[in-house]
Amino acid sequence: MNAFLFRDGQLYAEDVALEALAARFGTPCYVYSRRAITDAWREFSAACAGRRVLVCYALKANSNLAVIDLLAREQAGFDIVSAGELRRVLAAGGSAARTVFSGVGKSSAEIREALTAGVRCFNVESQAELERLDQIAGEMGRRAPVSLRVNPDVDAGTHPYISTGLRENKFGIPHEDVLAAYQRACALPHLDVVGIDCHIGSQITSLEPFTAALDKVLELVDRLHEAGIELHHIDLGGGLGISYDNETPPSRAALINAVFNRLDAHPRGARYEILFEFGRSIVGNAGVLLTRVEYLKRNGEHRFAIVDAGMNDLMRPALYEAWHGVQPVRPREGESAQFDIVGPVCESGDWLARGRQLCLAEGDLLAVMSAGAYGMAMSSNYNTRPRAAEVLVDGERIHLIRERESIESLFALEHRLPD
Ligand code: LLP
Repeated sequence: MNAFLFRDGQLYAEDVALEALAARFGTPCYVYSRRAITDAWREFSAACAGRRVLVCYALKANSNLAVIDLLAREQAGFDIVSAGELRRVLAAGGSAARTVFSGVGKSSAEIREALTAGVRCFNVESQAELERLDQIAGEMGRRAPVSLRVNPDVDAGTHPYISTGLRENKFGIPHEDVLAAYQRACALPHLDVVGIDCHIGSQITSLEPFTAALDKVLELVDRLHEAGIELHHIDLGGGLGISYDNETPPSRAALINAVFNRLDAHPRGARYEILFEFGRSIVGNAGVLLTRVEYLKRNGEHRFAIVDAGMNDLMRPALYEAWHGVQPVRPREGESAQFDIVGPVCESGDWLARGRQLCLAEGDLLAVMSAGAYGMAMSSNYNTRPRAAEVLVDGERIHLIRERESIESLFALEHRLPD
């Protein structure tokens, strides 16, 4: 469902006018729809009904406690990549036993913390990490459940910065080294080898890369089986894309069905519990970034709308040249022109959208669409800009889920030199 629709000439989040939120909380401000998040989640869980599946939410997409909280209430699993994300899961009522720990560079301290909490599984990315995990588990008198992240060498057909399944990426264990890595893992005394996993990239808009990766993983599972290594689960990662503009990604149900069709055709496919790690497809289209036009400016033929949100608030355009829709919250009648929507940060890369045909005036409120994933989560304080407020709308109810940062808090941890 689309939770951001026009009513009486102005844009709403569910049953709340975005203008009212801007007036109350100021701009820039992230606004999320509770219903859009739960609907996305339930589409995954309904498609998995009757199967042994754990759908994890990849916290990195949006790690606000309220978002985790509402997904924990839906019995979601979680995919984390740091001790910080683990603490968020626990602080928001999520379960460590339903949490998988991914990431290529887990520190010893993070490994200890995750072992103490009792995470469901460590997604291990190298031989060196296996050795370290075994040693720490031994010191703690525990066993560490492990899954090896394999690199299936599949092209996800997405932006190079968010493509992870190719040989040249730093992620995963190369295909040809997988058997040896499993044999080593099985020989280590403090590890329980429970699964295999892969994640080939993000914002993937067709089924083929997913099924190709699954085929490669099943080949490996067969080889391991022949070598006497039996796994409990297969984790297929995340990566399902959303529509920012005119992309037509497969539906959540279509992806899940394609995976299970493949597994049903495999002789031992029914044995494995299946895990996923979805981020963007759960929260991406459930959020917008509200920003106000400060100035209109013309440099020669080029028109700019300078808004109060910048690359520090939403980094995706600057980093990936990502496209986000821009919607005036109360569209006005009049002549439109082509604008670049740019922020106040002192960098030419500080833009949110380019060449948009819009009718704008100073003071207008704009909604930058599809900003629920990797928006606030990747924001920074560059230029000593306090991070935006975050609000979650639930029907007519409004929850402030993160306060706007104060400027003082930005340098509260710093110290001047002694006299
Ligand atoms: N699992 C692993 C191991 C991952 O590395 C990621 C994302 C996910 C799951 C979740 O992927 P998703 O379902 O959200 O596609 N900042 C970029 C996206 C980076 C994705 C990194 N890994 C962006 O703004 O497009």
